[in-house]
Amino acid sequence: MAALRLKAVAGIVLCLFFARINGLSAAGQTTTKAKNGMVVSSSMIASEVGRNILRTGGNATDAAVATAFALAVTLPAAGNVGGGGFMVYHGADGEITSFDFREKAPLAAGPDMYLDQDGNVRDNSNHAGLLAVGVPGTVAGLYLAHQRLGSKPWAELVEPAVRLAEEGFELTWGIYTDATGRLKPRFKKYPSTTKVMYKSDGDFYEPGELWQQHDLARTLRRIQQQGPDGFYKGETARKLAQFMKNNGGLITEADLAKYRAIERKPVHGTYRGYDVYSMPPPSSGGVVLIEMLNILESYDLKKMGHNSALYLHLVTEAMRRGFADRALFLGDPDFNPEIPLEKLLSKSHAQQQRTNIALSVASKSDSAMATQPEEGTHTTHFAVVDSDGNTVSLTYTIEYWYGTGIIAEGLGFFLNNEMGDFNAVPGLTNSKGRIGTAPNLIAPGKRMLSSMTPTIVAKDGKPLMAIGSPGGRTIINTVLQVILNVLDHGMNIGRAVEAGRIHHQWLPDVTVFEPWSMSLDSQRLYKSMGHNLREKPYGGQGRAMGILINYADGVLEGAADTRSQDGGAAGF
Ligand code: GLY
Repeated sequence: MAALRLKAVAGIVLCLFFARINGLSAAGQTTTKAKNGMVVSSSMIASEVGRNILRTGGNATDAAVATAFALAVTLPAAGNVGGGGFMVYHGADGEITSFDFREKAPLAAGPDMYLDQDGNVRDNSNHAGLLAVGVPGTVAGLYLAHQRLGSKPWAELVEPAVRLAEEGFELTWGIYTDATGRLKPRFKKYPSTTKVMYKSDGDFYEPGELWQQHDLARTLRRIQQQGPDGFYKGETARKLAQFMKNNGGLITEADLAKYRAIERKPVHGTYRGYDVYSMPPPSSGGVVLIEMLNILESYDLKKMGHNSALYLHLVTEAMRRGFADRALFLGDPDFNPEIPLEKLLSKSHAQQQRTNIALSVASKSDSAMATQPEEGTHTTHFAVVDSDGNTVSLTYTIEYWYGTGIIAEGLGFFLNNEMGDFNAVPGLTNSKGRIGTAPNLIAPGKRMLSSMTPTIVAKDGKPLMAIGSPGGRTIINTVLQVILNVLDHGMNIGRAVEAGRIHHQWLPDVTVFEPWSMSLDSQRLYKSMGHNLREKPYGGQGRAMGILINYADGVLEGAADTRSQDGGAAGF
């Protein structure tokens, strides 16, 4: 029946479009199909939680709330209650909105708070230790989304997460790898973290062993019973503020009580007849994504061939220009009322940007060849589509993988180090990738600029694809390339999220590429145009999670990036 509803809205253009995609997707092993609803996330367990909510009559927002809380238990590296994020929504009825639950700077924060007397960042303090923690927004944001768009009772949506924490689940390979690998020294540094991540004798849990998180279960139970007050007030707020005070952090009970999530109008662009909806500031993601798509729209990318040297040259030039604008203009809109959004999103701005792109010569961001700070796989994204076609694209984060690495004593969750997303050194913008521009300097109560890019592509007023990824600044470029893979290169969603990707962010003037993304010939040609090319040293670029709605066949097609160890698509 639900499948029929999907079929009922099929249009000729979509039929043709998907016929093309399906033609290429026959053996797409990474694509999962379902008819009635689907969740794709970086944790198969959490995807199944969301799928069960859909199966028992919940809508996409209900499933998103349940999935997000479940991820806080099963993917503690990025799923969270101690961080923040963004949700973009496109209803089957055409309602389009977004929710901003980005962390905020504590009231005691200021623009110079991390600087030593020489004006340098003191001991990496914007990323390490309790001074790096922003006021968490996740619980407020999920609650606001639920109040606006949810249908099932809040308590029912938090319950699966409480049970996963209380009763435990089989430890995943992803968590095992983290607990035994290069993060071990960080986890062992803080007794409150060691207690959760290791057994009482200090030994680690084996994959498949039952892993329980009792403090987290109690924290979630308070959220379940009291809503946001169970987090921002009362026992949780008191314990968190006390932990901060005892250990040199800034967040107080007043900071927590004051936190509010905001519903915002998504940014909108068009690309080859498709509508693109994404997150507005304080994310840079949507604006930069749409600017890059606008720049690329006038080239025949399909003809150039996927990841050919010419194609990647033009994609790089679009990235260079999008990221330059990111640095110059973007920050928290509540503190930067003058952001020229309309201009940045316009076709005329893209036209202007194209005038200085040469077809075979790289432009220069900076002549210095510099080391690019490694952008990891931090953050996590998931996508949900329900039986009516309501679609959610949600990315949230605690910044680094496991944030600060610090679990607040007695609360069971990791604290973010999101303050590192502010520009820490006012005025210092350099070839190494340090940005010191004004819109994203630290101020009390301000939200730090983000790159998270939860996006929904639509056609004829209907959601068509939900896509997003983790990966710091690489997120925007990952989402761009997955969209191009589908819309220009006709890939199915599985191929589109798996294909090799590149990243350029204006400064440093270096393109980082996944080794499998370019042939040796393309690398040679690309370098001959004047691009600086560096192979990504480890891991992949992001972990894209996406769902395509195939209206022609009445089928949902989802893909969890295999760059993610524990991810999966769950449909029914
Ligand atoms: N912490 C990653 C981002 O917000 O872009």
